[in-house]
Amino acid sequence: LAKIEINLNDIPEGKNITFKWRNKPLFVRHRTADEIQTEKSVNLATLRDPEHDDVRVKQDRWLVLVGVCTHLGCVPIANSGEFGGYYCPCHGSHYDASGRIRKGPAPLNLEVPEYTFTSDELLVVG
Ligand code: FES
Repeated sequence: LAKIEINLNDIPEGKNITFKWRNKPLFVRHRTADEIQTEKSVNLATLRDPEHDDVRVKQDRWLVLVGVCTHLGCVPIANSGEFGGYYCPCHGSHYDASGRIRKGPAPLNLEVPEYTFTSDELLVVG
């Protein structure tokens, strides 16, 4: 199965870059300290698909997601929506900066693919 190597130095803090991986969009987001703090402190009881941020990231600064809305498969827009993460314009689903569904019709959080950090600078997805 295809893997993709991503140089993390290419992704500035606060930015989400979209790559193509196995014919799907792949989001890699360099989270800010504020985003990390916000996502770590979300009350899981308020979530539709309850997952702590700790189980969705391997390093707090880096969020890695399959960029496919869990409603009907559109590609959400980064740094948009009411929860500081992603917004799907097709039917109005809002995801947070952990990729968790917070509002709108999507039933599940954005998928986290298999990945590893092979060094401080290199991420391998797949
Ligand atoms: Fe994203 Fe419907 S496909 S909200």
